[in-house]
Amino acid sequence: MKVIIGADHAGYALKEELKEVLRQEGIEFLDIGTINGEDSVDYPDFAERVARKVAAGGFDRGVIVCGTGIGVAIAANKVRGIRAANCSDPISARFSREHNDANVLTVGERIIGPAVAKEILRIWLNTDFMGGRHAIRVNKISAIEERSGVGE
Ligand code: RB5
Repeated sequence: MKVIIGADHAGYALKEELKEVLRQEGIEFLDIGTINGEDSVDYPDFAERVARKVAAGGFDRGVIVCGTGIGVAIAANKVRGIRAANCSDPISARFSREHNDANVLTVGERIIGPAVAKEILRIWLNTDFMGGRHAIRVNKISAIEERSGVGE
């Protein structure tokens, strides 16, 4: 599995911690920044960068961190083919994979602590999509994208 990870200034510190999990799991990853947590940056820039790389197929999954995880999820979900899930607990992380086939995980550094975030990431990385009836529903999400013409 190849993972791409990014964050704004408000998610920088947690991004650094989550990279430890990726190393421990032996997962190849690319960090697209921000590389300087002190400087204010705009979260949509980093969310789009991660989302487009996942959508293009160069990476299997993306992880994006901001203050809440909300802004980056909203931005990433504008990209066609992206199913970004903002998770603040392990159960949501599990179901975002099993039922929604989420290909991007977002977390909020100002919402959850590093230990919870790391557990969320571990579960999210190691949980498979269940397919079956859930695939029918995920396909309906893709159909909405087609009808709306979003994420060109
Ligand atoms: C940055 O101050 C903050 O707005 C951003 O990190 C994020 O929480 C937005 O959703």
